[in-house]
Amino acid sequence: MAQLEFRSVTREYLLGQQTVRALDDVSLVIPEREFVSVIGPSGAGKSTMLHLMGGLDTPTSGQVLLAGQDLAALDDDGLSDIRRRTVGFVFQFFNLLPMLSAWENVAVPRLLDGASLASVKPRAVELLERVGLADRAEHRPGELSGGQMQRVAIARSLIMDPGVILADEPTGNVDSDTGRQILDLLTGIAHDEGARQSVVMVTHSLDAARCTDRTLLLVDGRMRADGPPAEVLPVFAGEAVPAATDPVATGGPVRSGS
Ligand SMILES: Nc1ncnc2c1ncn2[C@@H]1O[C@H](COP(=O)(O)OP(=O)(O)OP(=O)(O)O)[C@@H](O)[C@H]1O
Ligand SMILES: [Mg+2]
Repeated sequence: MAQLEFRSVTREYLLGQQTVRALDDVSLVIPEREFVSVIGPSGAGKSTMLHLMGGLDTPTSGQVLLAGQDLAALDDDGLSDIRRRTVGFVFQFFNLLPMLSAWENVAVPRLLDGASLASVKPRAVELLERVGLADRAEHRPGELSGGQMQRVAIARSLIMDPGVILADEPTGNVDSDTGRQILDLLTGIAHDEGARQSVVMVTHSLDAARCTDRTLLLVDGRMRADGPPAEVLPVFAGEAVPAATDPVATGGPVRSGS
């Protein structure tokens, strides 16, 4: 079963008299165990897409399905329930709670789900081990580096065993070596034989996109291309040059949007 599906999803924002179409008729299917990158110019609709994927926002038209469940069919409680259980979020600025230790931060989603701190601790510590931070479990975010904070955030995104991990610029605030570690971690999550998790990562880094299985290129809210990064990245490069030298004009197997 697909972890995530968009059927002709459009999201418009009303700004005064003006309508901004942030996402325009986008369809896609994300299967299990796939590491997907989302690239495109600033304002192309990447964050809008990620928010819709996680049920943080609702489409103006079209359908979003998470684990086969149409989000529009759910009431507020159902939506927050599926959001908590089926998606994990990783943000550019980590969004950790400063007064809590690393392991307590990892535990937070389970606490919101009604579990006790003591009962969640073993799993939280195990996840910190998985991201290489077993020795930092008792540290607060202020005592960690940016890369360590992001690894805590990744551990937190895993605690509910979600089908989909959604990451918006997870390497945007760390140096390139640390970015590499974060990418390796996300790759390991998506390709874990024992789990059925997919990772969708918005990124401005073409090097980061190159590490993924599949790249979605958004331009002006539309899906410009969807395929292996080796095929989609040249399309993105071509966006900036005149049509005559556009690599798309040379053909190739890229599924291009119109
Ligand atoms: N709450 C909102 N109200 C009105 N317009 C919005 C809102 N959120 C986003 N937009 C508009 O929708 C478009 C897409 O925005 P989005 O944040 O998805 O872009 P993005 O691809 O994530 O850009 P960036 O790379 O800069 O993060 C932009 O034109 C933006 O101005
Ligand atoms: Mg964005």
